[in-house]
Amino acid sequence: MEEIKNLKVLISEEKLNERINELAQEIYNDYKGQEITFICILKGSIFFTVELSKRMPCDINFEFIRVSSYHGENSTGIIEMKVDLQGDIKGKDVIIIEDIVDTGRTLSYLKEYLKSKEPKSLKICSLLDKKERRVCKIDADYVGFNIPDKFVIGYGLDVDEKYRNLPYIGYFENV
Ligand code: IMP
Ligand code: MG
Repeated sequence: MEEIKNLKVLISEEKLNERINELAQEIYNDYKGQEITFICILKGSIFFTVELSKRMPCDINFEFIRVSSYHGENSTGIIEMKVDLQGDIKGKDVIIIEDIVDTGRTLSYLKEYLKSKEPKSLKICSLLDKKERRVCKIDADYVGFNIPDKFVIGYGLDVDEKYRNLPYIGYFENV
């Protein structure tokens, strides 16, 4: 990859690893080592889902959902399901694994949708949280880092499908 101009590191790979270690321990303790179903929200959460689950010595089932959100001029935030669940989560302990909570529209929609599938429990774990931007009243149960209102890339997060594979969280200065 050629050098990317004006790219600054917001959260280094080392800090990500440290915090994900802590989160994994916290979740593992809360669930007392029992089986958990992780629902990875594609595509942004793939790195986080993998890194978190590698650090948890318990049974984890993986499910994947892909949604697109349309933030038009009026920002009504219509969410479209692109890839739906394959398995049954009824009676399961489920955690939604998300890359970032921004306006909260995606997670508000997903939480209601997944509740209708009658899991035993349903929680949200997000690597990043941009609280300032919240439009919907929703909070993650587990948060890696609270970040300022900057558009971030890397570690799964993209701009037009690029930069997902950066090993850290970065942002463009003056953008
Ligand atoms: P929300 O529905 O507004 O909370 O937005 C959720 C989705 O928007 C996230 O899952 C991301 O895919 C995307 N998103 C929000 N903020 C950023 C960002 O700073 N960088 C990259 N993607 C973002
Ligand atoms: Mg996403």
